[in-house]
Amino acid sequence: MNPKKIVVAYSGGLDTSVMLKWLSEKYHAEIIAVTGDLGQKSELNGLVEKAYRTGASKVKIIDLKEEFIRHYVWPAIKAGALYEGEYPMGCSIGRPLLAKMLVEVAREEGADTIAHGATGKGNDQVRFEVAIQALAPHLNILAPLRTWEFKSREEEIEYALKHNIPVQATKQNPYSIDENIFGISVECGVLENPGVAPPDDAWQITTSPQLAPDTPAIINIEFDKGVPVALNGEIMDGVELVTKLNEIGAMHGVGRLDLIENRVVGIKSREVYEAPAAVILHKAHNELEKLVLDKDTFRYKQNISNKIANMIYDGLWFTPLFDALMAFVDSTQEYVSGSVTLELYKGNLITKSRNSMFSLYNEELATYKEGDKFNHSASSGFIHLYGLPFKTLSTVRKTAVHIKQSKKLKLA
Ligand code: ARG
Repeated sequence: MNPKKIVVAYSGGLDTSVMLKWLSEKYHAEIIAVTGDLGQKSELNGLVEKAYRTGASKVKIIDLKEEFIRHYVWPAIKAGALYEGEYPMGCSIGRPLLAKMLVEVAREEGADTIAHGATGKGNDQVRFEVAIQALAPHLNILAPLRTWEFKSREEEIEYALKHNIPVQATKQNPYSIDENIFGISVECGVLENPGVAPPDDAWQITTSPQLAPDTPAIINIEFDKGVPVALNGEIMDGVELVTKLNEIGAMHGVGRLDLIENRVVGIKSREVYEAPAAVILHKAHNELEKLVLDKDTFRYKQNISNKIANMIYDGLWFTPLFDALMAFVDSTQEYVSGSVTLELYKGNLITKSRNSMFSLYNEELATYKEGDKFNHSASSGFIHLYGLPFKTLSTVRKTAVHIKQSKKLKLA
């Protein structure tokens, strides 16, 4: 491969900084460093300057927060996509958008190659590369971390110092952290032993439940067609709403997850996540669906949610099946409008109430008090027919076993 112009997914961390320099030395190519702003806060400080000093000939920071929320986070909420039942996938959802950004920059700049800093045993390499292949099959992809000579962080630091790459911002942190507005993932260090509880310093943004305020927070989230539109009666845009929920949730110790997960490449990993807004929004959305979706759709959608979560995790965002399943999800969201009130208290998230003009909950049918409109006598006919196949089966088999046994007795 002989790349002339390389678009590099740059975060400013040690790996991608070393990668910038390494690529420019190895290929003598023009390097364009691109960072997508998905709401990772601190990581962006001083980034542009640092990328130029590290050898980039052009640097771009692209604000993707709005697009991320609107076209990636909201669909994931509507889909109820929680990987292996729990992980809201802040990282996994961000990767296809970053890949799309890299492809767009490559087109604008006439680059022939995209390079990313994902490692050879993670999920992110799969997500980046599958997305790039789907969006721009003509582009070459480089993943230097899979092939380069460095065996440890120390060797990378040594290389960085030798090449005047500023490493002060990459102060030794025992953990590997990935952050965006929809969640933070923390791995490595002592967390690699799943038999050990995460130490306090593993948690980056949430207050420990023990230290959370004694007074709970009560919040109300309003949805329109499955999309969160207002917090405590105030209509706000998605970025603001998610940011506020992260703050409130973090303060009350809500949104901590400690998970063992199955990676795409077949290994299990232990990671901790902090995703207050994601956890709150998924819970509220699900509560509302319980109220407004009919039984069959609700149950069927649980399977689809699971499939969609697997597809997102596995890097299959830009695929025909994913689009088709999301069309199903959108169709289910037509009446998912209404509001849910939740209490946040010392790490707990407790549903208080839910309301919708499309609520299928009928008090006259549900009540055990006076005014009950439910037709009790209809139940006996229903259950008779509903259980008929099993009654028939049981009768036939019991009789057959009996006959078989008495035949054997005769033979003996
Ligand atoms: N295991 C999570 C996922 O695959 C988080 C990965 C975090 N990525 C990272 N480069 N640290 O979605």
